[in-house]
Amino acid sequence: METQKRSKMAWLWENMKGYRAIYFIGILGTIVYNVMQLTVPYFTQMIIDIFLTGDEAAANLVNKRDLFFQLIIAMVGLTFLRTLIVYLVCMDVEHVSQKVLYRIRTHLFDKIERQDMSFYNTYRTGDLMTRVTGDLDAVRHMIAWVLRSIVESFSLLLATTVYFFYMDWRLALAILAIAPFIMVVIVKFRNKVAPRHKELRAKLSLLNTAAQENISGNRVVKAFAREDYEIKKFDECSVDFSQTNKKTALTWISYFPYIETFANLMPIVLLVVGGLFIMNGQLTMGEYVAFSSLIWAVQNPMRMLGNIMNEFQRFSAASEKVMEIYYSEPKIVDKPEALDLPQRFRGKVEFKNVSFQYEDGNMPVLHNISFVANPGETIAIMGETGCGKTSLIQLIPRFYEPTEGEVLVDDINVNDMKLTQLRKNIGLATQDVLLYSDTIDGNIAYGDSSLTKEEVEKFAKYSAAAKFITKMPEGYDTIVGERGVGLSGGQKQRISLARALAVKPAILILDDTTSAVDMETEKQIQHSLNELDFPCTKIIIAQRISTTKFADKILIIQDGRISESGTHEELVAQKGYYHSLVQLQTGEEV
Ligand code: GTP
Ligand code: MG
Repeated sequence: METQKRSKMAWLWENMKGYRAIYFIGILGTIVYNVMQLTVPYFTQMIIDIFLTGDEAAANLVNKRDLFFQLIIAMVGLTFLRTLIVYLVCMDVEHVSQKVLYRIRTHLFDKIERQDMSFYNTYRTGDLMTRVTGDLDAVRHMIAWVLRSIVESFSLLLATTVYFFYMDWRLALAILAIAPFIMVVIVKFRNKVAPRHKELRAKLSLLNTAAQENISGNRVVKAFAREDYEIKKFDECSVDFSQTNKKTALTWISYFPYIETFANLMPIVLLVVGGLFIMNGQLTMGEYVAFSSLIWAVQNPMRMLGNIMNEFQRFSAASEKVMEIYYSEPKIVDKPEALDLPQRFRGKVEFKNVSFQYEDGNMPVLHNISFVANPGETIAIMGETGCGKTSLIQLIPRFYEPTEGEVLVDDINVNDMKLTQLRKNIGLATQDVLLYSDTIDGNIAYGDSSLTKEEVEKFAKYSAAAKFITKMPEGYDTIVGERGVGLSGGQKQRISLARALAVKPAILILDDTTSAVDMETEKQIQHSLNELDFPCTKIIIAQRISTTKFADKILIIQDGRISESGTHEELVAQKGYYHSLVQLQTGEEV
């Protein structure tokens, strides 16, 4: 626990690089303005002892008027100065906390962006959102408030203690004898509240996940008329969260009376012991007033410690979650000796005895896959749903790595290439189309923002999207919503195809991209795919014979194995799965 906490602080310290000096100045300022709190009671004590209660008080009032005014002016001046320092310190630590927050947030987003596909299977969006928002804010709060409050409390406490001892060590000891009891309570509180914050943090993540999934999945909710069910489910999450929140707050409240009682004992001790000392002439009235007017400077830090401990535990729970992502490393990265291949690829794709199993899966999904796609060829992949088609093509851009065998592009193992160079040569239209909340133009030019308007239109034409786009009220400037709300399935697919083509890839991979378009449109698309004005190897997953018929090679996948491969004619002649598909789809005996 201790070492872990230290490493959290070390992590924070690391991220404060560049701002440590100015943060240190802020901390120094905190010490200064807290020590300055003592000046007012000090001057008050002098005024009382010299001008009010001392033996020569009356004479001093006449003879030392200048000193009286000097003391008053010094008190007022120091109060103003102190306020100025507090202001500057607040600005200073706020500045540092925002800078550090920005740095960590950028780093986190960078980490999340560069993660492997499998990372997104593990972490839920709502949870990741919690980490980059609420959790990070707890980290910021640590810098802006918690650390400063610790210094504030301790410097005030220390300065007052020194001052108390300087005035009268016996009275000081009597008052401070109560402090250890408060410490015991604080430690007990810490042990109780730490797990609460962990729980609270987990509940917040659940709440955010529920909200996020419901918002992005609203169409499913509506389709099944499950609004009431979802509202109830969310409500449960929400109640759960607020109850945990309440429990956390109550933890503090249950400890607070003890601390408050001990803290309130201090003035009583002062009254009793101090009163006795005055009676015995061991303490001046001025000193008594100084003690009395500073007793809060001992009480308050004690009271604050509970609050600080609370916030510290919140930071502890949150930073743990942030650090998990902060230090996470994608497994699929460039090798140090990765080849530099800046030129455009020829587009040869080869699978050599490839087997593949998802890390979180319990069975291989691909077995011993071997095939070659020569530059410019069209390879069609067909097979029943769930047979492994999407898994297969995901190995080409190295979204996953084969468990056995090799995937080669231009005769080089993709594992030896630089990821960006490999992926820049691949145009991929995924099965699950995701468009950005942007204009249609922006979506098509996503992979290459330098694309001219004419080029965007050309690719829209290739993908048979131009017609419906121009019919839209704002044409290419029409904004499509998150996940392409406002477009039909086939329209989305065509924009996604245009987006994949727009990078003029050496390898084009289409995962069921024309499944939602009509036969006529599909024909147009096929025609333009054959007429592309750049060389391109096409790997097309499709269900329709009409799409695959003209491919140079058709691969039939069954249960993760290539069961048939060849041209349309060859496969029809084999009278296997493909043959039966042809019969089924054309309704003819062939
Ligand atoms: P359709 O797109 O429906 O035509 O299927 P497909 O041929 O593209 O199948 P896919 O490659 O997506 O899936 C093959 C098998 O892998 C199925 O049994 C899936 O359940 C499994 N699978 C797919 N994605 C994952 C994943 O991320 N993790 C795990 N563990 N299994 C997966
Ligand atoms: Mg698929």
